[in-house]
Amino acid sequence: MGECPPRALSATASQMRESARRFAKACCPHGVPTKAVRPISGACKGRAMFSAKTRFETADNAISRHLAARRARSLPVLDLTESNPTSQPTIAPSADFLNRCLFDERVHLYAPDPCGLPETRQAIARDYAEHGIDLSPERIIVTASTSEAYAYLFKLLANPGDELLAPAPSYPLFEFLAGLESLCLGFYRLGYDGEWFIDFGALEEAITPRTRAIIAVSPGNPTGAYLKRGELDRLSELCARRDLALICDEVFFDYALDVNTGDIACALADCQGDCLRFVLGGLSKTALAPQIKVGWLAVRGPDDLVAESLRRLEVIADAYLSASTPAQLALPRILAARPSIQSAMHHRLRHNLDALKAFHRGHPSAAWQPLRVEGGWNAVLRLPRTRSEESWVLSLLDEAGVLVHPGYFFDFPEEAFVTVSLLVAPEVLLEGLAALDAHVGQG
Ligand SMILES: Cc1ncc(COP(=O)(O)O)c(C=O)c1O
Repeated sequence: MGECPPRALSATASQMRESARRFAKACCPHGVPTKAVRPISGACKGRAMFSAKTRFETADNAISRHLAARRARSLPVLDLTESNPTSQPTIAPSADFLNRCLFDERVHLYAPDPCGLPETRQAIARDYAEHGIDLSPERIIVTASTSEAYAYLFKLLANPGDELLAPAPSYPLFEFLAGLESLCLGFYRLGYDGEWFIDFGALEEAITPRTRAIIAVSPGNPTGAYLKRGELDRLSELCARRDLALICDEVFFDYALDVNTGDIACALADCQGDCLRFVLGGLSKTALAPQIKVGWLAVRGPDDLVAESLRRLEVIADAYLSASTPAQLALPRILAARPSIQSAMHHRLRHNLDALKAFHRGHPSAAWQPLRVEGGWNAVLRLPRTRSEESWVLSLLDEAGVLVHPGYFFDFPEEAFVTVSLLVAPEVLLEGLAALDAHVGQG
């Protein structure tokens, strides 16, 4: 997407680019790719009228086509990709609860603040305080989603043609969010040796004169890996040394499963280097309420850079004023219920992760392995390289009725990986794993 110049790429990075080109994607509301998006070649009606960055071909991808064909024949699907919390009524906040939170006698008034209503920002600051982070509400900007927070930051930090670096594997929406701001997305590789880690050598190599910011996701989607204290120190030192901003997406931060919480870094905490850093969060994961459409960004770093960022962000936000008043008024009540909202989700995630590990232990000759999950809502499974991911995913769907996401949706640097959601109903997960195990075992 976009008009980014080709770069000299290492073998791994060029494979990554290749997979991104072949499978450049559009996303459904939960950030899950459903479309194959390719540049349109040849003449196109009205072409001169539209921007190059919106030249998408929005045909369904092969997985979506096979899924639709299966559903058209009323064949069952064990969907191990479901990650919309509102699809789980026993876990997501109820309509009664949300209606109570949304009820407010000031709902008819309009007195917007570009950075967010004071009580909304105070409630977010209180929530950080409960995580041990002391942050002034003045350093928080309320947005209509985390995606919008990214868009604000990309406008703040980069000029058209500049570059952002995102981890690979990672959340597929970055490419779109960057492209829509006329920016280029480069990748830095995450390594795995029993746990995920940042390959700092590869990261330094990936920085170019046009790089403006490094994105980190903690815990990662889909890796589930948290940023550790030592990694934050190194990232911050690197960013300070190279005049880059650090953007840390912590939307899944509260869902720690198998990690020593003492090792985890929150990017708003003190760290060496003290670069300019932005932390993103939102109700969509924190309160399992993506439909409320409230996210936020928080700023830390050297005082002069923080002050200048906030001054500019206020003007950007003033152009949109997009977080709705009813949603902002509801946020303090929703966040106050965070512990109880999250406890059902924690229980589901932990139960499913334990079940996944137990299933694998109970099948010692399984041809697939789960990778370590520290937190978040997903698990990654490594499949034999005897087939491509595309072939595994399509055959799992067609022959075993199991729907999983291929690693290439998330820019895994190599094949063959698939991801499963830990949010699905436990019986669906177990049935799906049994069908996957039998299918993968056949080769
Ligand atoms: C890493 C990550 N960041 C952000 C988001 C989107 O959050 P929001 O709904 O607030 O835009 C997602 C959604 O899946 C995500 O996985």
